Amino acid sequence: MKITFRPNVPSADSSIPRLLVRIVDQDNLPAGLSRTDTEGASAARFSGKTGQVFESFAERDGRVVRQVLVGAGKADAEDRTAALEKAGAALSARYLTSGEKTLAIDVSGGSLSPAEVASALLGARLRAWRHDAYRTKLKDEQKPTLQEIVVLGAPDGTEAAWQTEEALAEGVELTRELVAEPANVIYPESFVGRVSKRYEGTGLEISVLDENAMHALGMGALLGVAQGSAKPPRLLAIKWMGGAKAGKPTVFVGKGVTFDTGGISLKPPPGMEDMKWDMGGAGAVAGAMLAIARRKAKANIIGVCGLVENMPDGNAQRPGDVVTTMSGQTVEVINTDAEGRLVLCDAICWAQKEFQPAAIVDLATLTGAMIIALGHEHGGLFSNNDRLADNLIAAGKASGDKLWRFPLAAEYDKLLDSPIADIRNVGPRYAGSITAAQFIQRFVENGTPWAHLDIAGMVWADKPGATWDKGATGFGVRLIDRFVRDTVEA
Ligand code: BES
Ligand code: MN
Ligand code: ZN
Repeated sequence: MKITFRPNVPSADSSIPRLLVRIVDQDNLPAGLSRTDTEGASAARFSGKTGQVFESFAERDGRVVRQVLVGAGKADAEDRTAALEKAGAALSARYLTSGEKTLAIDVSGGSLSPAEVASALLGARLRAWRHDAYRTKLKDEQKPTLQEIVVLGAPDGTEAAWQTEEALAEGVELTRELVAEPANVIYPESFVGRVSKRYEGTGLEISVLDENAMHALGMGALLGVAQGSAKPPRLLAIKWMGGAKAGKPTVFVGKGVTFDTGGISLKPPPGMEDMKWDMGGAGAVAGAMLAIARRKAKANIIGVCGLVENMPDGNAQRPGDVVTTMSGQTVEVINTDAEGRLVLCDAICWAQKEFQPAAIVDLATLTGAMIIALGHEHGGLFSNNDRLADNLIAAGKASGDKLWRFPLAAEYDKLLDSPIADIRNVGPRYAGSITAAQFIQRFVENGTPWAHLDIAGMVWADKPGATWDKGATGFGVRLIDRFVRDTVEA
């Protein structure tokens, strides 16, 4: 979706698109509406509630125009930003396949600030994203037609505000693409290939560890997961050092299991196809790095993606195997389906040794139990540091990628003791998301501020949401970007 700005075009100009939108506040229809429109809106029960759309046709300067009012809710609402995003998103949902190629939004009149206009545009752009790469038989009326939004009469500063949001949109779109692609297309090597290509010219620097390099570093846990797959693993690091020269970086680590069969502890068939998005944490990290670089954040940020495929095979690891992690700690692998923590423990250990981070935040589709607890409304947050936790929760609220905190405690940690090794990779049935977090915490060194985000319920949606269609949501990108803006850059 292309966004262009035409500051001075009067809305009666015959060169403006036929589809002309105004954003209206609830119970506050714009002045100068025709009687047909006022009575029509009332008859259609349009009051300007968030995301409501009212459409009418009228003749103007000898042309038939399609006039649209979209509701942004109450002007003084607390969640005004989210409401404007929803208003923009409602336009995309409604007109994406409408046959119209261009949509104009007239924001002259000055009731919206540059940031508010940019929010509406972000909502429109995000809601318009779809993954049609493999749909070769779409009927004409199913194909997207809307290609451009022209913003008329935007206040000074709107283009600059949009540039920041556009960086974010590009990040979210990259994440969605990585998440939506099937596992025969996106596997560890091709994940690296896809993102490197996208990073060209952005100033992001990447480095990649292959199997040999990881072997030399002693990453027995990550390699143990990978050993059943024909696809070799990769550890990808993405660097953006836009902050102070000597400033310690904030590191985001993503679980990138490009397909999770469960391994020898094989998952049941129904729904297993979902496990193509078991790389959603890594996808979020990769997309967030793009957003951060595209808006030239004044911060030192590093993304690390642990990329493996978890397959059953003659060479796969067995339940009961003991592996030695990079940290030196040994792990008894009770269940090969609890593979995410095995990938993360080596990725996090390496990130600490390599980058001496100021803080580490990992993102992972780690446990089904997280979905049982929180559904699809919040990601779970676990942290050894209240300030970091509070900042992440605040970033979640502000960005819409919401988080809810869960406890960590020695009593849970004890549940991971093993009779043969330093730790086992699963606890008992209960508190499965917490014991998973406790496992990761055993690999956090010297009290480094650390947070673990279990986003299993958030990366994929079975139905359309505020700013996404069904499918990949891009969860995590906006959260990371907002956290970087408000906490690291501030
Ligand atoms: N990737 C899964 C978690 C998951 C399940 C994410 C469903 C999204 C939807 C993870 O690797 C896994 O299999 N976890 C196990 C852990 C168990 C073996 C302790 C789970 O949640 O069942
Ligand atoms: Mn698993
Ligand atoms: Zn998994």
